[in-house]
Amino acid sequence: MEKIETRKDVAQVLHMNGGTGETSYAKNSLLQQKAISLTKALREEAITSLYLKKVPRILSIADLGCSSGPNTFMVISEIIKTVENLCREMKHKESPEYHFFMNDLPENDFNSIFKSLGSFKEKLSDEIEAETGPCFFTGVPGSFYGRVFPTKTLHFVHSSYSLHWLSRVPQGVENNKGNIYMARSSPSNVLKAYYEEFQKDFSSFLKSRAKELVEGGKMVLTLLGRTSEVQYSEDGCDIWDLLALALSDMVSEGKINEEKLDTFNLPLYQPSPSEVRLEVLKEGSFTINCLEISEVHWNAHDGWNAFDSKSLDSVGGYNVTKCMRAVNEPLLITHFGEAVIDEIFRRYHAILIDRTSKNNVKFINLSISMTRNE
Ligand SMILES: C[S@@+](CC[C@H](N)C(=O)[O-])C[C@H]1O[C@@H](n2cnc3c(N)ncnc32)[C@H](O)[C@@H]1O
Repeated sequence: MEKIETRKDVAQVLHMNGGTGETSYAKNSLLQQKAISLTKALREEAITSLYLKKVPRILSIADLGCSSGPNTFMVISEIIKTVENLCREMKHKESPEYHFFMNDLPENDFNSIFKSLGSFKEKLSDEIEAETGPCFFTGVPGSFYGRVFPTKTLHFVHSSYSLHWLSRVPQGVENNKGNIYMARSSPSNVLKAYYEEFQKDFSSFLKSRAKELVEGGKMVLTLLGRTSEVQYSEDGCDIWDLLALALSDMVSEGKINEEKLDTFNLPLYQPSPSEVRLEVLKEGSFTINCLEISEVHWNAHDGWNAFDSKSLDSVGGYNVTKCMRAVNEPLLITHFGEAVIDEIFRRYHAILIDRTSKNNVKFINLSISMTRNE
């Protein structure tokens, strides 16, 4: 593939590093795990009010952009525990049946998920120490920007750290030279194109979910965002600017062709809270219960400072460079080739270390809890 541009290209290339090896998403997603932990109360509130109102015999739950690894099961196990506790408190004779739908793009490592289902179930039953309702698991490949479930079949939709990915690279951004996302030096047409693609995609997402959720169904979404209304903001763009810096350094040394960098733009948009709110209001099928901003420091793990910058290792075995690699490697390999990938991340690592030692660097999360209007 020469360039990653169209919806088909993105659907083919966008996936996290699979498996359970050193560079896998499963081993390098602590940061995303922290973000999931921060929104536990939002999910509990949504599931509790949904369950008490509807008391469904079958509870259908979808996780959109589930990827693979421990985070995939974290929300599932938390939901089962919440509902089982409610059943006990309400002295219900029977727990509901749980139908879990795990959605991601087709290239996602669904096999890893299914391979670890057995150990997940064992761990859950050890933790709960009682019988739960029967649990059924289904993998659902496909883009969440279109329909992925039948009409009115879902009670609860969850998605974390997935919706900032766009369905395609915005069109007409050829003049975003030297940048790979919205940057301080991006021309205004580039900023406009990114925002318009976000509006289109997010509204398609809402329209599809409005059809798939039952009336009164709930949805809790967390995505990377920014605090400022200005499209270029450090808290939304810095991490990508620094990746562009690593790439430009390699261009100036002749290790990457300049044209290669100039034609690479990320299919990504980190919206502001009001941009998210506006799309929900425009679409009109959902009531917003809550829209929260939270932060996760780039260093999601102790030991960030004690690392070997050449080998990308850290004492805790975790650092933000490895996390960014687990997320972005397939996209970067497709565009720049495998030969330069180690060097890209070695340079990126050194730049990130320098930045974290000087600034208070963090990812901004936007979490929104909504109810499908009756
Ligand atoms: C950073 S991972 C998040 C995984 C997990 N939810 C977590 O919090 O750790 C983002 C996931 O979203 C998926 N994704 C991105 N765009 C998607 C789309 N249009 N439809 C379905 N999944 C998508 C990616 O393939 C990836 O697995």
